[in-house]
Amino acid sequence: MSTELTVLGLETSCDDTAAGVIKRSPTGQITVLSSEVISQDDLHALYGGVVPEIAARAHAERCDLVVKKAMTQAGLTWADLDGVAATAGPGLVGGVMAGLMTAKAIAWAHHLPLLAVNHLAGHALSPRLAEPVALPYVLLLISGGHCQILLVEDIDRFTRLGTTLDDAAGECFDKCAKVLGLGFPGGPALQAAAEGGTPGRFALPTPLKGKPGCDFSFSGLKTAVAQWAEQITPDDIPDLAADIQIAIADHLLSRLNRGLQQAAPLLGPEKRLVVAGGVAANLHIRARLEDLCQTHGFSFYAPPLKYCTDNGAMIALAGAERLARGLTDPLDAPARPRWPLDELRAETDPSHTPGRKGAKA
Ligand code: KG4
Ligand code: ZN
Repeated sequence: MSTELTVLGLETSCDDTAAGVIKRSPTGQITVLSSEVISQDDLHALYGGVVPEIAARAHAERCDLVVKKAMTQAGLTWADLDGVAATAGPGLVGGVMAGLMTAKAIAWAHHLPLLAVNHLAGHALSPRLAEPVALPYVLLLISGGHCQILLVEDIDRFTRLGTTLDDAAGECFDKCAKVLGLGFPGGPALQAAAEGGTPGRFALPTPLKGKPGCDFSFSGLKTAVAQWAEQITPDDIPDLAADIQIAIADHLLSRLNRGLQQAAPLLGPEKRLVVAGGVAANLHIRARLEDLCQTHGFSFYAPPLKYCTDNGAMIALAGAERLARGLTDPLDAPARPRWPLDELRAETDPSHTPGRKGAKA
């Protein structure tokens, strides 16, 4: 489509109620007009993790407010929009339904096309909210819900090179922090504790050591940390936190090392790695990724954190790209708790054991 497109996007797949508005020029240049996020950290902190029912209720209560904030911040009226996008999955289904229903209501009431967006496509395209990163690139997506290596070839063509067999990287940070009594969300708390520690005292396993492929696994690491947690005193926590942070980074890098080698022949002369997801905020991991990219001759892109973590602007962007290609969705588009980006790979790869309703992501 050769016109300028202005799209509102809603994101409610986990524990952030978010809405954003972006403008896409006919040549694909992106301008973020607003990106508003209402965090639910305070609601889930008591439980040390996201409680799906509490999240769904909070999304339902806050969707209208966050949309209003995003539209006000953008200085727009409904008549200025060309489409409404919402995350339709994968994610916690109660929350996904709250955001998707809000978007459907806006689309219906204002005669706008609906764009039902895959949350992972939003993350995959998110670096382009900050700068025009050329395609293709390798994406390391490390958040509380996802841990994947993706080859992003086009705005709707993704190949999954690796994914987690159990927990996501952020989940591992959160669960380790929980057993150490560091609070929620655990990632920033564990990083802060590690800053005061000296690594090297606590032996932790190296998951999937020597195993082919680029998949991840964090369950063994988590169990080992739980066992150490029973044997230490509070004074040992910073040292253990430092070892945990290094062990998580070691694992991410060892699998990504393989992913970059696998992707390199498919990328052409300009090789790019993008990191996204909340764990991309970790300074130790960022520094290690930068080193790895230097070793492999990749340019490294770490978008501003506000675009790495869940946000509505990335969903608006993924929706605008669909709209630009003439793709829209019906008002009965379903919420999909499981929705792999690379469906073929997810269904055919026997190394993954999908849940009852199929592969999650
Ligand atoms: O992308 P995100 O905001 O939400 C999800 O889609 O999950 O990621 C949240 C995750 C949490 O697990 C949080 O502990 C982790 O990102 N995180 C960090 C850091 N900041 C946030 N993990 C490690 N180090 C950090 N500095
Ligand atoms: Zn996410």
